[in-house]
Amino acid sequence: MSNKIVLLPGDGIGAEVIYAAKDVLEAVSKKFNTTFEFSSHDIGGIAIDNHGTPLPNETVNACKNADAVLLGAVGGPKWDNNPSDLRPERGLLGIRKALDLYANLRPVKGFPKLLHASPLKEEIIQGSDLLIVRELTGGLYFGQPSERLDNGNAVVDTLSYTKSEMERIIDKAFQSAQLRNKHLTSVDKANVLESSKLWREIVEEKKNDYPDVTVEHVLVDAAAMKLITNPTQFDVIVTENMFGDILSDEASVLTGSLGMLPSASLAEDGVGLYEPAHGSAPDIAGKGIANPIAMIQSAAMMLRYSFDKNEEAQAIEDAVEKVLNQNYHTADLKNDNGTLVSTTEMTQLIVDAI
Ligand code: NAD
Ligand code: IPM
Ligand code: MN
Repeated sequence: MSNKIVLLPGDGIGAEVIYAAKDVLEAVSKKFNTTFEFSSHDIGGIAIDNHGTPLPNETVNACKNADAVLLGAVGGPKWDNNPSDLRPERGLLGIRKALDLYANLRPVKGFPKLLHASPLKEEIIQGSDLLIVRELTGGLYFGQPSERLDNGNAVVDTLSYTKSEMERIIDKAFQSAQLRNKHLTSVDKANVLESSKLWREIVEEKKNDYPDVTVEHVLVDAAAMKLITNPTQFDVIVTENMFGDILSDEASVLTGSLGMLPSASLAEDGVGLYEPAHGSAPDIAGKGIANPIAMIQSAAMMLRYSFDKNEEAQAIEDAVEKVLNQNYHTADLKNDNGTLVSTTEMTQLIVDAI
């Protein structure tokens, strides 16, 4: 079986963390005697600089021919004033669409050793373990029209979904709940939005197909509050694209840092893409201090979902936990009594623990 992995480092800390994940995968391949074949391709700002487009065809083709894709992050101040179609983020949205990566799974699990690293009270976050299932290829991000009107004096963005786009992500969330603690929280804005009303109807219809899963509807504003006041009430959260984007950065606070949140972006059938939830962090890029753990855990998710290598994935997750338990931390993780390490030092510690 081939294990072709496409690396899309992207911009800012994207490149720093993706080579950390590659080192960790190489350690896994030594230990378990498997081989991975890596190739790197441009996406985002660096692709604009090198090819005049944030998503070169060559990159799309390489991803389509791969067994899995790892993506670092895109974006940065250099390209912030570019026209919309020449922004790095367009490359990311484009590859998600091209690979039909409709299901973005963002697990939020605090490591016991990092309870103190969160600004939230330990007794609130203790025991929190949830999964955000975010729709990734629809909604406001892709709806048309999306443009300036009336000589720039008005603007429109469109929130549109087909029923089947909603059905497939809601099914995915029910199935994810069945594999976990069988509780699903559907987050919407059904008191205002037509799209949310249809979303809620579908969840109500579907729950008959998954009788072992308990279902609850929560409005998104209240969900934002509950996530940081009583996070242990959640098991699986399912929501549309934009709500999921916002709630997942918020949920990262439970883990101590945005640099701890991995994700898997999956298609119905086809190649999966694995990406940390964080961005290119221009404020710390180039300093060698980024936390590589979100990216490394994304690589573990890749081993699990795309390669069915559970033991190998577990080895990575155990190594991360072991290093954190030894009190090593990167600068984003507050720890008054620990040992502060750089990106490469943290990576080496994890490699050694494997
Ligand atoms: P960001 O996620 O890049 O950073 C937010 C804050 O978290 C910053 O203070 C940053 O230093 C910190 N942070 C993020 N990841 C970290 C890590 N691994 N280790 C330590 N600290 C970390 O969000 P932003 O600053 O709002 O956006 C910067 C750029 O990234 C923008 O161009 C945005 O569009 C892009 N972005 C890309 C992705 C992606 O490629 N998936 C995701 C989010 C944002
Ligand atoms: C994420 C990012 C992206 C998103 C941006 C960079 C387009 O914030 O992966 O969460 O909003 O999906
Ligand atoms: Mn985001």
